[in-house]
Amino acid sequence: MERERIIAPEWLQGDGEHESAIRPRSFNEYVGQDQVKDNIAVFVQAALGRGEALDHTLLYGPPGLGKTTLATIIANELGVNIRITSGPAIARPGDLAAIITDLEPRDILFIDEIHRLNRTVEEVLYPAMEDFAIDIVTGKGPGAKSLRLPLPPFTLIGATTRAGMLSAPLRDRFGVICRLEYYNQADLATIINRSAQILQVAIEPEGTEQISRRARGTPRIANRLLKRLRDFAEVKGNGVITGEIADQALRLLGVDEQGLDGTDRKVMEAVLLKYNGGPVGLDNIAASISESVDTIEDVCEPYLMQLGLLQRTTRGRMATAAAWEYFKLTPPGGNGKDQGRLF
Ligand SMILES: Nc1ncnc2c1ncn2[C@@H]1O[C@H](COP(=O)(O)OP(=O)(O)O)[C@@H](O)[C@H]1O
Ligand SMILES: [Mg+2]
Repeated sequence: MERERIIAPEWLQGDGEHESAIRPRSFNEYVGQDQVKDNIAVFVQAALGRGEALDHTLLYGPPGLGKTTLATIIANELGVNIRITSGPAIARPGDLAAIITDLEPRDILFIDEIHRLNRTVEEVLYPAMEDFAIDIVTGKGPGAKSLRLPLPPFTLIGATTRAGMLSAPLRDRFGVICRLEYYNQADLATIINRSAQILQVAIEPEGTEQISRRARGTPRIANRLLKRLRDFAEVKGNGVITGEIADQALRLLGVDEQGLDGTDRKVMEAVLLKYNGGPVGLDNIAASISESVDTIEDVCEPYLMQLGLLQRTTRGRMATAAAWEYFKLTPPGGNGKDQGRLF
């Protein structure tokens, strides 16, 4: 089996530990994402004031940035129930109908990975979102009858890592669309210190800094690194996560100063060395390093772009000047020095 990536932003076994203790429950505890938070807080206030359901809301952005957390906070702030499901979990229209008809007025239905809903299920969702009704077909053939069943007003919160993969009719039915961004280092430091306090982990400011710099702008990764480094500090030190312990442990885990790991380096190696800096298509990169296109597109690429090492052009992916520098390589057309391997 392939070794688990410590910096994988997707949920991994082990993340569940203490999850409910450290997951923020209110806007006050939800660090950063100020613009999104401010916007949503206004809509929540307005919905509460009018006693209506909140507009349907789409949250998108890379994994681990707080989409599910934000949905549960919205439900708390509205004082309503949240029903959590996901695109792939709703196989048939009947499954969705069963969930929706069970909602109470103003409840939230959270559909994670909403871009993976199948077409026939999506079609049930349209009238549900627009008219708060579902059409139930009974019988077959010429004798079939369609019955319109009214629903209580509810709020759909959809989450996706790929807003581009949502069909236009579905996208158009969301009143509020918010994009979550990678967290800056200061916000990550606040998140790490808050989690450390809850979990009673001793950490020095230099330890926090090491983690916040290497957590890829992602709270889920920051919390996971905190937990792994606590174990490391207990075994190799006196239990305190110092800057030095953090640096040692992160190196051992294969995470570099900017949070890149072996997979990121392989992607960059392919673009820089195999394709001379690009442009190169995603499929070619994936094939040449035996990695899935999804992992590269959802996980590696957005972060490499955020760091300014990779860019997307109409002709394909290209390494930036900063990338050649980061990996201490000479771009083609430079002074022609040997180009070794990255690792
Ligand atoms: N703004 C935030 N402030 C503090 N912790 C956060 C924040 N956003 C996310 N987290 C933490 O990161 C973890 C992952 O967040 P989650 O909502 O599951 O991400 P997503 O649904 O986008 O993949 C959560 O368990 C939570 O503890
Ligand atoms: Mg989630």
